[in-house]
Amino acid sequence: MSASKQSATAWYDSPLYYDMVYADYTKKETRFIEGIMERRGPALTGPLRVLEPACGSGRLLESLAARGHVVHGFDLNKHQVAFAQKRLKAKGLQGRVWRDRLQDFTVPLRVRYDVVHCFVSTFKYIDTEAGAVRALRRMAAALRPGGLLLLGLHLTDYRNSPPDHERWIGRKPGIRVVSDTLSAPANRPARTEAMRTRMRITERGQTRVEETLWDFRTYSPAELRALLRQVPSLRLLACHDFHYDLGSERKLDLAYSDVLLVLRKGRADGRRR
Ligand SMILES: C[S@@+](CC[C@H](N)C(=O)[O-])C[C@H]1O[C@@H](n2cnc3c(N)ncnc32)[C@H](O)[C@@H]1O
Repeated sequence: MSASKQSATAWYDSPLYYDMVYADYTKKETRFIEGIMERRGPALTGPLRVLEPACGSGRLLESLAARGHVVHGFDLNKHQVAFAQKRLKAKGLQGRVWRDRLQDFTVPLRVRYDVVHCFVSTFKYIDTEAGAVRALRRMAAALRPGGLLLLGLHLTDYRNSPPDHERWIGRKPGIRVVSDTLSAPANRPARTEAMRTRMRITERGQTRVEETLWDFRTYSPAELRALLRQVPSLRLLACHDFHYDLGSERKLDLAYSDVLLVLRKGRADGRRR
């Protein structure tokens, strides 16, 4: 039997299924965060202090907390926040998770983080340039001097942006989730790409479909550089990609569109890169 649900937030309202779909990445991303901090981060005397803006289901909060790091995260979606809080508690792990927005978040207790990370194109949810600048400035302000911002997002080639399809499959005992994400060709004047995710969930012999529609803001390499120039306290140190391979750096160009930027916070806000 199959039922269909359509809403702007459906897949984040179901953190368990979202979590299952992304689980394969978690180990690689965790290793990358630790590895890049060793290579390029500030000198540390204890565990990492990590902030994850838009932390979703908290899969990375859990994996970093389990390795002894201090983890804080926030998300706009209350279901994701509750799921992340519960998962840390269930594992007996420390961490703070709260509800907040990328564009105007605040961090508790005046903490300054060693690393802030925002992966898998989450930054593209911010739908205006002003919002993106505000979010980057807040991320920079949340970092200690020398701390790193890791920003992973899919770039757009406006001359060649055919519809794109990606499939992920997640499994747990008794549950199977097949997630198909489709991106439409970019709308260059509006700087948007229409996205659709369909999750086909099979649980206790029943199958249902949840569909989510949203727009991402698009970035060419030049548009991303122009954005970064507006936050001079962040300096681009290196560019990797969604393979999370520390040994392989690439240029910020369209040779490979899934880029992972490593940005370092300068000594003083306002210093030019
Ligand atoms: C692709 S998920 C990434 C979650 C997590 N960072 C991870 O890697 O698994 C995107 C998350 O961004 C959240 N989100 C979208 N727009 C947001 C905003 N403006 N402020 C805060 N969170 C937002 C969604 O609720 C969702 O949990």
